[in-house]
Amino acid sequence: MLSRFSRCINSCTLTLRQRFKTVAYSATETSLKVEKSLTSEEVFAREEKYGAHNYSPLPVALAKGEGIYVWDVEGRRYFDFLSAYSAVNQGHCHPKIIGALKSQADKLTLTSRAFYNNVLGEYEEYVTKLFNYNKVLPMNTGVEAGESACKLARKWAYEVKGIPKYKAKILFAAGNFWGRTMSAISSSTDSSSYEGFGPFMPGFEIIPYNDLPAIERAFQDPNMAAFMVEPIQGEAGVVVPDKGYLQGVRELCTKHNVLFIADEVQTGLARTGRRLACDHEDVRPDIVMLGKALSGGVYPVSAILSDDQVMLTIKPGQHGSTYGGNPLACRISIAALEVLEEENLAENSEEMGKLLRSELMKLPSDVVTAVRGKGLLNAIVIRETKGQQHSGNACQWKLSSLEWSR
Ligand SMILES: Cc1ncc(COP(=O)(O)O)c(C=O)c1O
Repeated sequence: MLSRFSRCINSCTLTLRQRFKTVAYSATETSLKVEKSLTSEEVFAREEKYGAHNYSPLPVALAKGEGIYVWDVEGRRYFDFLSAYSAVNQGHCHPKIIGALKSQADKLTLTSRAFYNNVLGEYEEYVTKLFNYNKVLPMNTGVEAGESACKLARKWAYEVKGIPKYKAKILFAAGNFWGRTMSAISSSTDSSSYEGFGPFMPGFEIIPYNDLPAIERAFQDPNMAAFMVEPIQGEAGVVVPDKGYLQGVRELCTKHNVLFIADEVQTGLARTGRRLACDHEDVRPDIVMLGKALSGGVYPVSAILSDDQVMLTIKPGQHGSTYGGNPLACRISIAALEVLEEENLAENSEEMGKLLRSELMKLPSDVVTAVRGKGLLNAIVIRETKGQQHSGNACQWKLSSLEWSR
């Protein structure tokens, strides 16, 4: 493995080279093709021309990342306070995770689940023991973790809870975000997510976030199968619920025989100062959704964790994915989880988060009206002035970088 210093020298060399000319060898021709590196403006224009317009990125064209830093195509260096929405909790291009990717890529990348592979079981054992659940179901993206959790909850509702066929309901909290599939937008309260895409998934109900009495009222319905909730709402603007909320959710779910699904895709894996954000209140959900940093930003890897009574209601052929549980993903994910443990990144996040918030609180209060978060998942609320284009009373910036100290 290269030392941090030599990695740095290598990257600088690469940056210089990129700024001038990239020489590419064609496999089919013997002649050399010389391509000019694009400027940021050219990168923006090309994406605009050929890509679907489903995003509106900030005007920065990135070409390289290492640890907490990213560099744009002109070689300017930035702190990455977004951390790919908490996917690169371990830092960009962590050498251990990249090493795992490279060594497994030479051996076996994908078998499909039609066959066993020699890494999946090792990963399943590692991740279930680490989080103390009986079983794991591997998928790829965070939204697939949500889809899997909803399917599993419905199956459990019919087979274990005894809810009449196709009457099962799943409860969500307003302001939630768990992706862009039809199910995810069907539970969304953000009109930019759902407007124009109906009809929506039936059997979903929504109550306010951070409102235990509303949960209790909804749970009077005997057909309620599950409550899916983010321990801190990330995309809603880092909304931290009152102390005791997660414990209250756990108690109500147990009392009414409703599954507690914790969406830890963004809050999990050391981001908020604990391995899982639910650990702040010592609660154990029935289903945990993981994604993003489960691969350290190297590859799409997601999973749900649960115990046998719930997980084994899904039988062969009833759920899956061609790429889910592939050996490359599993190797990467073991490495990504080991980095979190070996480098004590939850503790680092807790400590650095306190420092970050205490410094942010010193910003002028007529500009920054609120600072909130846990660990290194934080937001500041900036008072809107006339010149700003944002809607609403305030615009919210998310600040997060797990490796802020390094
Ligand atoms: C809490 C939460 N759940 C699920 C998802 C969906 O993850 P993905 O974009 O990988 O599908 C996100 C994405 O931001 C998220 O923040």
